[in-house]
Amino acid sequence: MQTQDTSQAGPGPRYRTVAVIGAGAMGKGIAQIAAQAGSVVRFFDAHGPALERALPEIGSQWDRMVEKGRLDAAAGAACKQRLVAAAGLRDLADCELVVEAIVENLDAKKSLFAELESIVAPGAVLATNTSSLSVTAIGAGLKEPRRLAGYHFFNPVPLMKVVEVIAGLQTDPAVCEGLAAYARQMGHTPVRAADTPGFIVNHAGRGYNTEALRIVAEGVADFATIDRILKDQVGFRLGPFELMDLTGLDVSHPVMESIYRQYYDEPRYRPSALAAQRAAGGVVGRKAGEGFYRYIDGKAQVPA
Ligand code: NAI
Repeated sequence: MQTQDTSQAGPGPRYRTVAVIGAGAMGKGIAQIAAQAGSVVRFFDAHGPALERALPEIGSQWDRMVEKGRLDAAAGAACKQRLVAAAGLRDLADCELVVEAIVENLDAKKSLFAELESIVAPGAVLATNTSSLSVTAIGAGLKEPRRLAGYHFFNPVPLMKVVEVIAGLQTDPAVCEGLAAYARQMGHTPVRAADTPGFIVNHAGRGYNTEALRIVAEGVADFATIDRILKDQVGFRLGPFELMDLTGLDVSHPVMESIYRQYYDEPRYRPSALAAQRAAGGVVGRKAGEGFYRYIDGKAQVPA
């Protein structure tokens, strides 16, 4: 049987010790697959309770994989041992790779990397999971911008097997090669993308979300009908509203705004007022128990 313990796949992980910063939806998944690949993972979040919640959640993912025979029990126990909570950025000093998955805000990401630069070793690779910001802009102002690249995973990380690897204007190509090799060790497929707003998936995906929101705003059809038709008739796995609920409008609306601004207010990327209102009201999706759909025990209630 094929197991998910990718640590047995080769001579050892490309990066033996990896820091994951941000213990939200994305950080949790990245920490999980990095530990499965055999790396020691130092896991940090500025908000302590987020980290306290994330560790047992990842542990129960491994327990479930063991129960289902996708990971043997010893490998599951070893993964748990390799995942270590960090109390502060100083605890990340020995990491060969840092993957940042914090809030989608340029200043927050820039100041985090500026601080990290003086903590990690000169050869350590810095990677950002940004969805939409410029990798070049995130690296600007660093002493060594050539060691920073984009490493854009998709939600949920263990299941979505593609990762975009993005070189900023100053990124050393060897850094991207290393990240691509490590993605393969984690069981993912790396895809190179240029440093442009939204890269490949979030650029193409703008149409999927914003046009669907326009169809609702114009009163053409309701959201559940649009989801149903795009799945049943066009073959998408998730409808646009299911997808926005999964990602959360707190994450995807700022991405829409960011891409729109970076393309100098290009009308085809214009974000939706409907999404802005819902984001402001906290009706952001699955994580809030309500988005376009209401969720009871994690299940979407589809309107009749
Ligand atoms: P999230 O809101 O679930 O988690 C972010 C975490 O970062 C929170 O736990 C927060 O406490 C922590 N944090 C914020 N600022 C911090 C700082 N300065 N230092 C340390 N920790 C900090 O967000 P999510 O969804 O995990 O997104 C994270 C990043 O990944 C964003 O850049 C987002 O655009 C990107 N992304 C999100 C995807 C999604 O579908 N949710 C898909 C691909 C990328």
